[in-house]
Amino acid sequence: MSKLTGIRACVFDAYGTIFDFASAVARCRDIPDDKRGALTTLWRDKQLQYTWLRALQGRYVDFWQVTGDALDFALDSLGIHSPALKTQLMDLYLTLSAFPEVPEVLRSLREAGFVTAILSNGSPAMLESAVSAAGLSSLFDAILSVDAVGTYKTHPSVYQYALDQLGVLAREVSFQSSNAWDAYAASDFGMRVVWCNRYSQREERLPGKPDREIRTLTQLPALLSLAR
Ligand code: LAC
Repeated sequence: MSKLTGIRACVFDAYGTIFDFASAVARCRDIPDDKRGALTTLWRDKQLQYTWLRALQGRYVDFWQVTGDALDFALDSLGIHSPALKTQLMDLYLTLSAFPEVPEVLRSLREAGFVTAILSNGSPAMLESAVSAAGLSSLFDAILSVDAVGTYKTHPSVYQYALDQLGVLAREVSFQSSNAWDAYAASDFGMRVVWCNRYSQREERLPGKPDREIRTLTQLPALLSLAR
């Protein structure tokens, strides 16, 4: 694969890209084995749907609220009625595991001179907590939350916010997401995009086209060339 040239900043989606959202349910022993997979999927799907719907309605509440509402829906759908379990899962969401390659990849990007940042739907408190629990605090120059914008991805104002905060042009950003819809939207906005397709998702039929597709972030540093 040829390199993306003229890049100054590497901006990462958080959930699914840096952090493994499945690790909350995986670490919670009190969920029946036959419901683990469904709970993970339903919780995540509903969480994302609520961000899109609230953005469309102009009814923003932060991602902590959305994540809790989505969890309530998922637990109810699976016939699990336990406030204690909800509390446990929400607590686990604050300390999700980072994917194993993440620290090394961030170190190598920073050594090469790239600015590193997160751009996420997560609330500032959720992101600070997960970044700190995973020992990544010193490896990001900026942790940017949509909360400052008051809406959710894929509203263009969210991607613009990253440019404004980092003082870079869209074409100087390499944006990494494992969420195909997020990758396509950032590309349509004008960023260069590396789709980290961890989940073997299909191509979206949406505006935008990721510039590169990789399987894990390990492949990222070799793909980027710094702006001079
Ligand atoms: C985020 C969600 C989309 O971190 O994964 O923004």
